[in-house]
Amino acid sequence: MTDTGSRPLFLTPTDPAPAGWHHVVLAKRHLLAGPVAVLVDDLAQWRSVSAGFGERLNGLVLTPSTDEPHCERLSPLAWHLTVPPERVGAAPLLFGGWLEAIGDADAKSQQLFALEHRMERIGREFELTRHDYNELTGRLQHQVQQLLAKEAELGRLNETLEARVVERTADLGRANEGLYQALAELKATQNELLKSAELAHLGALVAGIAHELNTPIGNALTVATALSHETAQLRHERAIGGIRRSSLDRLLDRVDEIALVLEKNLVRAADIIHHTKPLAVDRLSEQRRRFKVAEVIDDTLAALSPQLKRAPVTLALEVDGAVEMDSFPGAFSTVLSNLVTNALTHAFTDRAQGRLQLRAKPCDDGQLEMVFSDDGAGMTPAVLGRIFEPFFTTQLGRGGSGLGLYIAYNQVRRMLGGHISVTSTVGRGTSFRLLLPTVAPQPA
Ligand SMILES: Nc1ncnc2c1ncn2[C@@H]1O[C@H](COP(=O)(O)OP(=O)(O)OP(=O)(O)O)[C@@H](O)[C@H]1O
Ligand SMILES: [Mg+2]
Repeated sequence: MTDTGSRPLFLTPTDPAPAGWHHVVLAKRHLLAGPVAVLVDDLAQWRSVSAGFGERLNGLVLTPSTDEPHCERLSPLAWHLTVPPERVGAAPLLFGGWLEAIGDADAKSQQLFALEHRMERIGREFELTRHDYNELTGRLQHQVQQLLAKEAELGRLNETLEARVVERTADLGRANEGLYQALAELKATQNELLKSAELAHLGALVAGIAHELNTPIGNALTVATALSHETAQLRHERAIGGIRRSSLDRLLDRVDEIALVLEKNLVRAADIIHHTKPLAVDRLSEQRRRFKVAEVIDDTLAALSPQLKRAPVTLALEVDGAVEMDSFPGAFSTVLSNLVTNALTHAFTDRAQGRLQLRAKPCDDGQLEMVFSDDGAGMTPAVLGRIFEPFFTTQLGRGGSGLGLYIAYNQVRRMLGGHISVTSTVGRGTSFRLLLPTVAPQPA
């Protein structure tokens, strides 16, 4: 017989098996498959078949016996019972319910075990979580303490920082005062330098004028001395007997000659003095007023119109008619007049025709920009580098005093408070650029 029956199983190695029992060769897999009842001859037989796992059996071990009925517990869910031999066949009926109850108890105990297992796992997880929580709390507390310490340190630093800021501000204030003082001293030194530069420049100018005047006055002196010599001789002739007619004629010729030389040289001296005069003009006495730039330009060009008409040149004018200046129109006119005269004198000496251009317009920064250019002979770099020097001229002995541009430069700088610059290329022409404040600075 095989053990294919449904539970509860009533198993026995007895062959033939009593009614209701399954004949099996008792094996571990049968005995541990679930609650079973095993019919064996005696406990010794049971122990031999269940050696090593008998205590894990759930169910009943039945032994037929005529002795007093006996029941003992073999393990938590296994019992040993003695059954009268005549009741062995009824055993499945008698103990079926018991086996079922053992099966239920086993299932419950397994559930309980699983529950306990789960509880244990949850307990362990809880423990871990509690541990993590404790660790986290510890770390948080540590961090909070660190933060508090840092805050306290920051507070201390802030206090020292404020003190340092106050200290540095005071330092800076002192340094600033020092700087202001240094600046004031620098300005004073600069003014002194300017004054000494002006004095040096005045000295150079006086030396230059003296040098220039030396020749005509020296010439005049020589001829005047010669004249007094000649007249002394005539006086001597009269004292010793009378003046001869020829002597008188010679003296008269000499006087004419000497008068000519005197006139020429005195004219030259007067010319130099006349040219030097604008340099001595006192800024305060020069008339300052509000004027329209276009009007002063027109007047200046009108005064120069005879020379302009004579010269083979055209003049292109581009002047903003609205610009006004609060400045010195006399100085403005002198400068322009010198530039135009120079162009007419120097730029077109060997040319059949030429072109002049005058542009005047206001700049963004409140200054007037005036550009005067010609397309004439131009200048070599050597000449260009010296044109603003007093008495520099390439027309020596041909009427040039070399003061025109020197005067123009000084008027622009000193009276009008502006700047003058020049560019020139040999054979292509010259261009003067002036930047003049529309309101001239007050005299220093
Ligand atoms: N537009 C120009 N083209 C070429 N050369 C020029 C021009 N303007 C000035 N120069 C040169 O600059 C020199 C100096 O000019 P500046 O006006 O000072 O003296 P000058 O004209 O020679 O004499 P002055 O003006 O005193 O009669 C001139 O001799 C001339 O060589
Ligand atoms: Mg000149």
